Amino acid sequence: MQNQWKKVLLMGKSNAGKTSMRSIIFANYIARETTRLGYTQDVEHSHVRFLGNLVLNLWDCGGQEAYMESYFESQRDHIFRNVAVLIYVFDIESQQMAKDMQYFTLCIDALKTNSENPKVFCLVHKMDLVPEETRDQVFEKQEALIRGVVGSLDTTCFQTSIWDETLYRAWSQIVYSLIPNVAALENHLASFCQGCGADEVVLFERATFLVISHSTQKAFRDVHRFEKISNIIKQFKLSCSKSQAQFNRMQIKNSKFTAIIDAFTPTTCIMVICSDPAALPAMTLVNINNARSYFE
Ligand code: GTP
Repeated sequence: MQNQWKKVLLMGKSNAGKTSMRSIIFANYIARETTRLGYTQDVEHSHVRFLGNLVLNLWDCGGQEAYMESYFESQRDHIFRNVAVLIYVFDIESQQMAKDMQYFTLCIDALKTNSENPKVFCLVHKMDLVPEETRDQVFEKQEALIRGVVGSLDTTCFQTSIWDETLYRAWSQIVYSLIPNVAALENHLASFCQGCGADEVVLFERATFLVISHSTQKAFRDVHRFEKISNIIKQFKLSCSKSQAQFNRMQIKNSKFTAIIDAFTPTTCIMVICSDPAALPAMTLVNINNARSYFE
């Protein structure tokens, strides 16, 4: 199978939090470790393999003014050519929002002339610094400014912070938008969920624990449950690796449900939630084993 490379630009002014989020999602940093990160010099490239043949080619573009100017002038074609996704990070506490909007406008112009049908994701970031009761209002104001710039480009905005699960939610949706044949994957997952009598089945990317897809047969109240689980498992995996152990499988059983989280394909983990007492954990494990080959 041929690799599918997707160029992802990560842009925004200096200190917005770009390298912090990249390090948390892809390099197992915890939030407080990001205070030690230095400025990114020019562009830092990294490659992340997803679901077998999808490779994210991540360009973390340092946001200091001199670099930003060069992206729009001498490096314009090189940076903005063949972009699948632009992720623009706005520091909501910035004292120079007008300047930031100016850079964002230049980015969008350069993208429109150099790339075909790019997707744009705007992260209105560091929302933990905004009082909870005004967050939605602040976000809506920023989103309106963004929509005024992007025109007809396919654009999604998120409120994010490295201090809670909002970062995982945003990045899961970004990655999801890049997965080829996602409809086929979802069909497989729905059949599997019904076949083993589960309430819910969730597929996570194995290294990052980003949520790739899910199938839900029963209503759940907590809409942030996937991101919370991602965060918890990632922390648990980190403590495993500190004691030189490898995370492979977890089983949680109480009077209401059984949850199994298991390594699934070489690039995914699966979580199966069953509340039906007839669905025995051993049977669920057999079902997981049998389903593997369909997802590889
Ligand atoms: P350049 O490399 O200069 O382009 O900056 P950058 O956008 O990569 O910023 P970086 O990730 O280095 O983060 C700058 C600072 O912001 C660090 O001290 C982070 O700890 C902090 N930071 C990042 N995300 C958040 C957030 O969600 N909330 C808060 N309060 N601080 C954050």
